[in-house]
Order: sequence, then structure tokens, then C-alpha cells
Amino acid sequence: MCGIVGFTSIQKQAAPILLDGLSKLEYRGYDSAGIAVRDGEKETEIVKAKGKLSELSQKTDEGRAVRGTCGIGHTRWATHGEPSETNAHPHSSDDGEVVGVHNGIIENYKEITERLIRHGYSFKTQTDTEVAIKLVDYYLKKYGSPAEAITRAMLRIRGSYALALMFKSCPGEIWAARKDSPLIIGVSGQDSFIASDVPAILKYTRTVYYIDNLEFAKLTPGNVTFYNIEGEEIEKESVTIEWDTEAAEKGGFEHFMLKEIHEQPTAVRDTLNSVIKDNRIDLSAAGIDDELLKEISRISIVACGSAWHVGVAAQYVIEDLARVPVRVELASEFRYRDPILEEKELVIIISQSGETADSLAALREAKGRGIRTLGIVNVVGSSIAREADNVLYTLAGPEIAVATTKAYSAQLAASYALAVALGRARGLIDDEKYAALIQDMLSIPEKIEKILSDKERIQWFASKFAGARDVFFIGRGIDYAICLEGSLKMKEISYIHSEAYAAGELKHGTISLIEDGILVIGVLTQQGLYEKTVSNLVEVKSRGAYLMGLTTYGHYAIEDTVDFNIYVPKIDEHFAASLAVVPLQLMGYYISIARGLDVDKPRNLAKSVTVE
Ligand code: F6R
Repeated sequence: MCGIVGFTSIQKQAAPILLDGLSKLEYRGYDSAGIAVRDGEKETEIVKAKGKLSELSQKTDEGRAVRGTCGIGHTRWATHGEPSETNAHPHSSDDGEVVGVHNGIIENYKEITERLIRHGYSFKTQTDTEVAIKLVDYYLKKYGSPAEAITRAMLRIRGSYALALMFKSCPGEIWAARKDSPLIIGVSGQDSFIASDVPAILKYTRTVYYIDNLEFAKLTPGNVTFYNIEGEEIEKESVTIEWDTEAAEKGGFEHFMLKEIHEQPTAVRDTLNSVIKDNRIDLSAAGIDDELLKEISRISIVACGSAWHVGVAAQYVIEDLARVPVRVELASEFRYRDPILEEKELVIIISQSGETADSLAALREAKGRGIRTLGIVNVVGSSIAREADNVLYTLAGPEIAVATTKAYSAQLAASYALAVALGRARGLIDDEKYAALIQDMLSIPEKIEKILSDKERIQWFASKFAGARDVFFIGRGIDYAICLEGSLKMKEISYIHSEAYAAGELKHGTISLIEDGILVIGVLTQQGLYEKTVSNLVEVKSRGAYLMGLTTYGHYAIEDTVDFNIYVPKIDEHFAASLAVVPLQLMGYYISIARGLDVDKPRNLAKSVTVE
């Protein structure tokens, strides 16, 4: 979802750095891009292009053709107005006094537009961004200073924004403001940067500042000043980014997604090692102790997409191990349905980016009612991480491919640790079971490695089904949760229609879609449900389905029923999702490749969904 980069320096040419930064934000998804660069006191030069960033690079000779040391850049993911060069950012006021880029959605843009039209403004684009820029221009003309214009505009705008602005009267300066959309600031020597995400500037600096909601900042070469919404200067501590640029590069793999699939053992290991000390689960870094765990009366897990699928798996694990009632909610529903929450309830928000608009709104909904919130978050310093009462970090590192893999696996690992800690604190897990569960949890990484070592078999099968039209995934219990994720991977990167069904539910309508040659994938990792799902597979086979089974080593009788089978190592069944999901991720990946699709940046999708 839209990416912002800004750079100001004494001597260095800005445009190549802006383009380089934008290329590191490509994973967020975009349909057009643009830069605005100023050479000293001269007029700002704006260059935009529809489509890939390479178009903009070509137009500007990789930035070399655009002179100047201060500039802002943007990749746009259309929300208001079609993807086009006109609608691409940066936008400027009619006299070029204010030039800016924006990420987010301005909810009251119509009302502001009408007001500005009454004051003589006209609009060239259909974007809410042009409205924001002209609103700042209006206040600038009325009150005279950029700081005053920005605070006035911030007070007037409803919605979310990360804004980067340049003012004609302030050469060499970039102004940035933020509410509910990510924005970070970096400083290194005589260079200052802004960006939507760390990878954009990591090559240049590790020292970053997180600008909070309703704050703004002024960047000059090598310096940054922060202000609150009253326009008062505020102090901020910088944070040092520990991971390196290599973590955000492809490292020899053909695609980020394949690299991240292979990073799952490390992501899970790092996440587990951060909470398991001397064979005991220690959640103190997240501010969670046994007293707190004993007090919880109920849990709501709230998330979107794959993170919600983690919640579905976690529900089975937590209820089984800790006997605490859990409900799993889509954040986009939770935030608007006036949920009934208990005083001692724990609301868990799961999010890789920590910036997903619906998840953030759900968190605020729960917090606003005085309910304790726990964020299971990957991005340090993200909005959800900062606003949740407690944060359990997943240590997956930067995830670049739009379709999540390693963050999903790290989220599962964090939720297992929480489930086991809950069960233990509530006296439901004795010493022996506790030791065995921890042992099995710690075996997940090497078992994922084993699955990855046999990926050619999956690749072969995927190539056979690259032309499939529909795929159904069926399973029961935790296997159903695995199916949800397998099916989403198939849809989002292969563009093949697929559905995940609780195996027993298929016959209540959907089975009518089964016909000759349709691929049905059965997931069977739960011993108590195994025979039941086999029966459901037989039902669809008799209607012509082609069957793939996914089960654990030892269940070789499955081969009497299915046409193709994949085995994963045995593990405590509570943790089976962590293993069974891997072949399904690989299936989605290889089918996408076989179909010649852009696997890391699937159409219509964005990495971080910061709008509703
Ligand atoms: C699917 C995927 C999305 C995200 C969802 C939530 O592969 O990546 O479904 O899981 O948009 O994102 P986060 O976890 O950043 O809140």
C-alpha cells in the first residue's frame, strides 16, 4: 500500500536515492510512482509514471536527469481515482507553493474539496491527496508558516495519513506528518530521510525515529525537529535497527517468497528462543506473568487474512490446552459490531505489519472499553506494537513478499507459547506434559527443514495442476485452519479459485461443485479426526474429484484413497499447522511460477493494508 520516501542533503543528488528507496518499498504493492526534487531555490521538478518503477527510472535516467539534493518520492496504490500518471503523486498546489505525497485515506475529502472550491481552488485529479495538499496551501496562505499550516490541516483532516511535504519558501526542508499510517525518519551525517518502512533507508542509516500519531517533523540536511499537534517542539529517542540490508534482499533465491519460505525454520526458532528460557516459557518480555494468565476469563483473537487464520488454529490449541474460551474475529467485523467483552477478557491482535487499519481499529475499540490488549506483532515500533498493552514480538525479520509465509509461521509459534503458558499457569499441564510440549515446539524448525528438503515432489505436482480452475481444501479442527491458509495462498498468488471447507460441511451444499478432475486437497494431521476426513475424501472421489492427501508419516493407508500424497513429520498434533502449511505454501508458489505470474507482488494486493 503506497510507499513514501524523502531525502534531503547538502551535496548528494536526491533522485537516485529516492528511486532506490522506492524500489525497497515495491513489496507494498503499487500501480504508479513519482518523485519531486528541488535544486536549491529553483522550481521543483516533478516526474511521474504509471506502472512499474522501472518506467520512472527510465524516464529519469535512473534519477540522474533530475537535479537537486532535496526530494520526495511515492509509489501509489489507487484508492481515489484510477491508476494513472495524473493521479500519481507527488501533487502540488496551483502555484507550486506546496508539493506533497500522501499515504492513507482522507475520509472527509469531499467536504474539504467543496470548501476549497468556495475559496477559489480547482482540482486536476480525483485523489484525496490533491485535496490535502491544497488544504495545507490554503492554511499556509492564511497563517504564513508551514508549521501552522500543517497543524491546521491535521486538525481539519479526518482519516489516516502519512504526509511528506515541501514548501517553496523552505528550500532543503521536508516536512512530514502522520496519523494512522506508517512513517519513519532516519538521520545519518548530513543526510536526512523519511520512509514508510525501514528497508527503504536501511542502506543509508540504522538510526531511525518513529513519528507518532498526530505528530509532525521538519527535516533539514542531517537534522530533524519533532512537534506535537499544538506545534510545540518535542524530544524523541532514536532506535537502532538491528537487522541488516541482506535480510531485506533476495539472497540468491529467485523470489522473496521462496526465500521467506526457507527462512521459516529461523523465524520460528528465533521466535521460540525469545520466549523459551531453560525449557520454560517466559513471557516477561511481553509483560505477561502467571498471575495475569490465571486471571483471564476469555480471549478474543482479532486479525485479518492469514493472521486471522493463525487465530483460528490458536483457538483450537488454546481451548484444548488451557480450557479458556476463545473466539476468533475478523478485525473488519469486530470493529463495527459492538462486541460484548468481559472485564477480564484478553483481546489478542495478531499482525505482521502492525499497521493493518482494521486490526489497529479493533485494538483501539477494545482498549477504549478498558479491556487488556496483547499484540502479536512482527514490526517493532509499529502502531499496534506501540498501542497494545502488551506485545509479544514475532522474530520473523522483514517480510517482503506480499503473501505472508514466515511471519505466519512465527505467529503460530508465538501463539503456541502463549497457549502452553496459559495451560501451565492454570494448572492444566503437568511437568511431564509441559516438558514434552516444549520439546515438540522446539522441534518445529528442524521438521520444517526436512519438508523443505523434499520440495521437488511438490514442484512436480504443482506443475501438473497449474491449469486447474478450482481447488478445494478440506480438513477438520486444526486441519481446517491449515486449509484456510493453504487456500488463501493458492488464490492470492496463483489466481486459481479455491475454497477451504471444514470437511464435514462440504456436503451441506458445496459438494455440488465437485465434478470430474477437480482437485480436492485433504489435510489429515489430527488422529482423532483422520477417519472422518478420509470418509469425506471418499465422498468427493466418488463424484470425480482428483485427491491429494496431506498427512503425517506412518499414515500410509491414505494411499488407498488419494491419488497423490505428501507426508510431513510427526509432531504433537497441536503444532501440526506449522508443518502442514509448508507444502501448501510451496504448492501456491510453484503453481504461480508455472503460470508465469508475479509471485512476490500479486495483482490487486498490497503488503500492508493501511486503509479500510
Ligand atoms: C496473505 C496476507 C494477508 C495478511 C493480512 C494481515 O498472505 O499476507 O492476508 O495476513 O493482510 O496483515 P498483517 O499481518 O500485517 O496485519
